[in-house]
Amino acid sequence: MDLDKITSFCKRTGIIFPNSEIYSGLSGFWDYGPVGVQMKRNMTDLWWKEFVENREDVIGIDGSIITNPDVWKASGHLESFSDPLMDCKKCKKRFRADHLIEDELDVSTEGKSVDKLNELISNEGLKCPRCGGNFTDVKDFNLMFETNIGPVKSDNSKAYLRPETAQLIFTNFKLAMETSRQKLPFGIAQMGKAFRNEVSPRNFVFRTREFGQMEIEYFTHPDKRDNCPYMTDDIREYEVNILTAEDQKEDKEHKKITIGQAIDSGFMETEWLAYWLYQHYRWFVDLGVDENNLRLREHREDEMAHYARSCFDIDYRFPFGWKEVYGNADRGDFDLRRHIESSGEKLGVYDQEMEERIVPHVVSEPSQGIERSLLVFIMDSYTEEENRTYLKLHPKIAPVKCRIFPLMTKDGLDTKAREIFERLKEDIHVEYEDRGSIGKRYARADEIGVPYCITVDYDTLEDDTVTIRDRDSTDQIRVCIDDLNEVLVELIEGQVEFSEANK
Ligand code: GAP
Repeated sequence: MDLDKITSFCKRTGIIFPNSEIYSGLSGFWDYGPVGVQMKRNMTDLWWKEFVENREDVIGIDGSIITNPDVWKASGHLESFSDPLMDCKKCKKRFRADHLIEDELDVSTEGKSVDKLNELISNEGLKCPRCGGNFTDVKDFNLMFETNIGPVKSDNSKAYLRPETAQLIFTNFKLAMETSRQKLPFGIAQMGKAFRNEVSPRNFVFRTREFGQMEIEYFTHPDKRDNCPYMTDDIREYEVNILTAEDQKEDKEHKKITIGQAIDSGFMETEWLAYWLYQHYRWFVDLGVDENNLRLREHREDEMAHYARSCFDIDYRFPFGWKEVYGNADRGDFDLRRHIESSGEKLGVYDQEMEERIVPHVVSEPSQGIERSLLVFIMDSYTEEENRTYLKLHPKIAPVKCRIFPLMTKDGLDTKAREIFERLKEDIHVEYEDRGSIGKRYARADEIGVPYCITVDYDTLEDDTVTIRDRDSTDQIRVCIDDLNEVLVELIEGQVEFSEANK
């Protein structure tokens, strides 16, 4: 599917707008319109409800975007959070080396070092696509966004916008644990903005300079890294698409195996990591994403982040290839130890049984991009049929759950429709609409993924029933007004089939 088509569809329907378009925009920044903001909010609320509110072992925090720069020194971001760049010696155009290699040579550069990229460029004789010139050596360029605090600009006033939400979890670890009276194992979640000075933002909202993350750091006792009490037979038997590091070496495709097989064969090293990978893979599937477009990909040794013992991504099959929407690393005690060494604070936990202070391990770090996830839901549900284009969104992600139309704006039909709107809005997000023909109103609702539309007609005035139309099948059923709230809630929650909803 064409990404330009999706970009203009999103603009036309009020989902995503180019940022500051009236001033020619700003590369790597996007704004969310009236429809997109609601979809994004629904999606993030679902994530927070499932992984924080509904769990006794996960708590949330909301750290600030700017923090003491020592945090970024300790985490290693100031030193090594970078992208590989090179310039054309002839026309002076600057390129992101890994992206250009992928585009021009069609080979994956995931995790390749600067030396390896230089080697590839020279072996393959890669030239500037603009003028045919040779390149300078590839060099690393730091992605941290700098800012200044206070009225005087100096080295001491320098600060950074956070490039990930995760570090704020580590700096708040002790206070969050103590104030919530949590015991190991437990997780701390955070959701919010992150900023990266990406050299070549691209692919619509896939790679941007400002984006959202939903992250959890899950802490365990270092000796209990492998005992996940939530692992069940059902989870072990669940099948996922998986691309192992071994299979990548041989250029193989992903295969279908169960979570249990992945643990038993040893490449998913801990039950905890497997458990959290399952939880998030399943989250996408339960919200309607086609499993054929999802896979777990194990990181190869040569691409593993310096802090990671093991790492898997959830990839989605985008029109521009399989790409990461979520990463999950076993970070061990890397971060807490770095912050203990740097700050001098005791961030360890006292183990009553062993009578010793231990540094917990992050056995799993689910880290999911908000906009990338939204793009997955949009792309996966985008449907073109002969006479309509619509988003087949899961009702829980849909920006509006139901629209209410009076057949005409006369004879009391509009008054009745407004009454129904007032009643329904107590339970679900509904909108009232009376402009244009009913056909046009259906088409506008379908386009943004509204799953159900209600029409108030002359029969309504006689028997207090209305028509509900299902977006995907376009089937219609007649339902009593008194039952409407309950029926719609059941439909949205997936508790009843549409054809059975009025029985
Ligand atoms: N704390 C770990 C971490 O930040 P990451 O793989 O760098 O890991 C996690 O980022 C997720 O954040 C990615 O899977 C992706 O969904 C999202 N993300 C990262 N960089 C992004 C960018 N430039 N634009 C949009 N989303 C991005």
